Amino acid sequence: MKAILVGLGGRGKTWWNACREHPDVEVVACVEPSAANKERAVKEWGVDAKLLHDDLSAALKKGKADFVVDVTPPAVHEKIALTAFENGLDVLGEKPLSDDFAAVKRIVEAGKRAKRKHMITQNYRFNALPRTTHRLLKEGIIGTPSQLDIQFFVPWADLPGSHYVTQPYMFLTDMGIHHFDMMRYVLGADPVSVQTVTWNLPWGWHKGDASHVAVFRFANGLIAVHRAMGCALGKRTTYNGEWRIEGDKGSLTWEEAKAFHTWSHRVEPNGKGEKIRTELPLDEPQGPEAKLNPVLAEFVSARKQNRQPECSAEDNLKSMAMVFAAVKSAQEKREVKLAEL
Ligand SMILES: NC(=O)c1ccc[n+]([C@@H]2O[C@H](COP(=O)([O-])OP(=O)(O)OC[C@H]3O[C@@H](n4cnc5c(N)ncnc54)[C@H](O)[C@@H]3O)[C@@H](O)[C@H]2O)c1
Repeated sequence: MKAILVGLGGRGKTWWNACREHPDVEVVACVEPSAANKERAVKEWGVDAKLLHDDLSAALKKGKADFVVDVTPPAVHEKIALTAFENGLDVLGEKPLSDDFAAVKRIVEAGKRAKRKHMITQNYRFNALPRTTHRLLKEGIIGTPSQLDIQFFVPWADLPGSHYVTQPYMFLTDMGIHHFDMMRYVLGADPVSVQTVTWNLPWGWHKGDASHVAVFRFANGLIAVHRAMGCALGKRTTYNGEWRIEGDKGSLTWEEAKAFHTWSHRVEPNGKGEKIRTELPLDEPQGPEAKLNPVLAEFVSARKQNRQPECSAEDNLKSMAMVFAAVKSAQEKREVKLAEL
């Protein structure tokens, strides 16, 4: 399958390498307007200078491709996706789908109208911890999940001048999207409302608020609390965060890179009875695909099988709705229903 890689910035290298490592993918063109980033890609990543173009339209004139890998900033995603769809190409696009919810809806509709495969790179949910947790919750390991608490403390995005540091609510929109999408995947459910409070800490380096508490309510009564800080200089969590899912048969917790099931319900006052504290073996990927980028592997499989991939843009609309509702709630200081968007 022939790919055009669009955007050779910080994240572009991951996709250049992922495409080169996939046996069924060949990068036939790269698109990047910045001379400095083009030069870095040639010198440091080993990109052939003959592949480089200044814009996607120029690259499309050069010859046939099957799909675009879009690694541009969120505000550019609509232009890239629409150009790709108009030219009959599928799209594997970096998260977040856009920085504007009206644009998110337009992009999803355009992909559906053009009948293209369109996947968003929600890579976090492909890790062993969420994969295993999703399966175990479905199998009923903790009974009915009724509360989820996520603690997330990281020193996030500290490159001066980048859009991560200068734009408002970037920690919610750019990082929150990973966790909110993982919530939907792990729980197999979509929330109906959110209430958010955001703030900044005196030593923080982000112009927009980079600390928050967001409380999501689900239709079945489940409550999920996302408590996060993007300028943590003290004890930090992993980028997955520390998760605690509570049910009537105990809790499933993520403790650094490990998962545990804990259940002491049946302990009697005399100390007898059943008490469980088990580390859960993780479902690590097996077979030849295990070494490939799992998002690209899913996208290629979906194209081969002529189906929409997991994390299709249409599905991602629901994760994006969580983000934009959380921001609206912070701005308007009230609980926001996702259906309002
Ligand atoms: N999934 C993840 O874990 C993860 C991690 C980092 C970044 N990202 C996402 O990847 C995307 C890119 O992030 P980044 O950190 O690489 O940003 P970046 O600013 O470093 O790079 C973006 C590149 O796109 C180029 N560009 C801008 N307009 C263009 C256009 N019209 N055509 C072609 N190229 C254009 C820029 O010159 C730049 O080189 C963002 O959506 C970001 O959220 C995802």
